Amino acid sequence: MNAVKGFGKALVIITGASRGFGRALALEIAGRVDAGSVLILAARSEDRLQELQTHLSRDASQVTVRCVAADLARKEDIERVLTEVKETQRADIDHLLLFNNAGSLGDVSRYCRDFTDVDEVDSFLSFNVSSALCFTAGVLNTVPRRAGLTRVIVNISSLCAIKPFASWVLYCTGKAAREMMFRVLAEEEADLRVLSYAPGPLDTDMQLQARTISADSGIRSECNNLHVQGQLLTCEVSVNKLMKVLLEGNFTSGAHLDFYDV
Ligand SMILES: NC(=O)c1ccc[n+]([C@@H]2O[C@H](COP(=O)([O-])OP(=O)(O)OC[C@H]3O[C@@H](n4cnc5c(N)ncnc54)[C@H](OP(=O)(O)O)[C@@H]3O)[C@@H](O)[C@H]2O)c1
Repeated sequence: MNAVKGFGKALVIITGASRGFGRALALEIAGRVDAGSVLILAARSEDRLQELQTHLSRDASQVTVRCVAADLARKEDIERVLTEVKETQRADIDHLLLFNNAGSLGDVSRYCRDFTDVDEVDSFLSFNVSSALCFTAGVLNTVPRRAGLTRVIVNISSLCAIKPFASWVLYCTGKAAREMMFRVLAEEEADLRVLSYAPGPLDTDMQLQARTISADSGIRSECNNLHVQGQLLTCEVSVNKLMKVLLEGNFTSGAHLDFYDV
């Protein structure tokens, strides 16, 4: 990809686009694609998606925006997003960009020893791991490899994929599993550009949850200090770093890249 020209005519799919990092990503990327590009935005909150669509149609009217109110923990909702991908894909696009951004923190108010309910753990992993795998597989089948098409798959990861944090067992486990999944994908599909991007500590709802309900007092105060000392990143700053990495393309497919490393 070329650092100056942007992503060309692209089909961009963003999960978890209703707020936080996903929303900022949608706003930024809409200005970096050519006329005729399509953005597919998925999340559960239909009203927030519609507000974003209105915003985008004002500022990026050359781009078609499709919103799908979907709970990606549900198989039938994953199918509905894939149907939208099928119906909107065009033969003339030169880039497919899939951002697996939707995720949840899980219950951080307890420790490993407290998770005795298999169904609860399964439900977390089903949304944060299985759903991302099956959705990505569905998109790859729907938009197969062809000459002239660059397919980029981004996993929005975390430092938690590689470093344990007390009382965050679900989150750390999910991020680690998800990252390995994308590493395997990169091994298998040589034509893909796969990236796991850890966006740094962001000033979003997820951080608010982390600093208020984490069971571990050390983690709670670390998160609180980041907030109080103004060290949380805005989503826009982190999105810009990701855009730069993707446009320059200087990463090994399957790599984990952290905001602070690039
Ligand atoms: N915040 C941080 O400091 C931080 C640090 C490292 C990594 N990350 C990662 O960055 C990504 C974005 O985080 P964020 O801070 O922006 O989180 P956030 O503010 O909690 O937003 C999460 C997004 O995911 C969507 N989502 C949640 N559950 C969903 C479901 N069942 N189906 C479909 N969409 C769902 C939410 O939309 P709806 O509620 O409308 O469904 C929302 O758009 C996540 O993968 C997170 O793990 C965040």
